[in-house]
Amino acid sequence: MTNNTLRIENLELEVAGQKVLQALSMTIRPSEIHILMGPNGAGKSSLAKAIVGHPHYIPQRGHIIFDEQKVDPWTPDKRAQMGIFMAFQSPCEVEGVSVANFLRTAIRAYPHLQASQYTATQFYNHLYTLMDQVGLKRDFTGRELNRGFSGGEKKRLEMLQMLLFQPRLAILDEIDSSLDIEAFQIVVDTLHFLQKSCKTGFLIITHSISFIEQICPSRIHLLKFGRIVQSGGKELLARIQKFGFNEN
Ligand SMILES: Nc1ncnc2c1ncn2[C@@H]1O[C@H](COP(=O)(O)OP(=O)(O)OP(=O)(O)O)[C@@H](O)[C@H]1O
Ligand SMILES: [Mg+2]
Repeated sequence: MTNNTLRIENLELEVAGQKVLQALSMTIRPSEIHILMGPNGAGKSSLAKAIVGHPHYIPQRGHIIFDEQKVDPWTPDKRAQMGIFMAFQSPCEVEGVSVANFLRTAIRAYPHLQASQYTATQFYNHLYTLMDQVGLKRDFTGRELNRGFSGGEKKRLEMLQMLLFQPRLAILDEIDSSLDIEAFQIVVDTLHFLQKSCKTGFLIITHSISFIEQICPSRIHLLKFGRIVQSGGKELLARIQKFGFNEN
């Protein structure tokens, strides 16, 4: 019986000879939305990369546990197959790979999803429905992955992937940056849709107070110099809003 819970225990991470994360612990249960805030360079993106298994961000100490299993020996693709999804702060551009080919290949890694068994016609119909949902025009299917996409279009494609793959844990690194008002609402609606329909748990990295207010998070964590220095609810957000990061 799986329960999608992510548990991080006493994580320590050093990158290029610099301590980036220290004694970091956190638990995210199904359907919970956790916010990670903190100054530039605090270690937020590094934590996200460590969770998804980026080879340059392998922790020296501590454990990352998902569904009661240590993910440490798992490759990034195994972590993705187990339901851990990440939307990158700066999604990379891939020359020569079309959006449709990428998504159709990627969905086959998720045999438990009905969409992985679809014929080409069924898959495209499904894809077009989701593209309408995130406001991406259909001709994007033929474009090279993220190449020449505007900032907001890249973020919409990340949302499209999240809807398609229905992750059990989604890590969104500044998904709200570069979004217009319409896309901002799409992100909020998509989060709440997956939270309810798939019990997806979320770790959301953001600098935007208005985004946090709209998401209604379960918990907010403040990361400074690689350590979680405060965790709390709305009252912590109000303090950060009033005093900035320095008073916490
Ligand atoms: N590959 C790397 N090589 C060298 N230093 C790195 C590397 N990755 C991260 N760092 C350093 O680790 C620290 C944390 O970086 P990280 O990207 O995690 O910060 P962040 O909290 O996401 O900041 P921001 O809000 O600006 O996105 C920074 O000092 C950064 O320079
Ligand atoms: Mg970052």
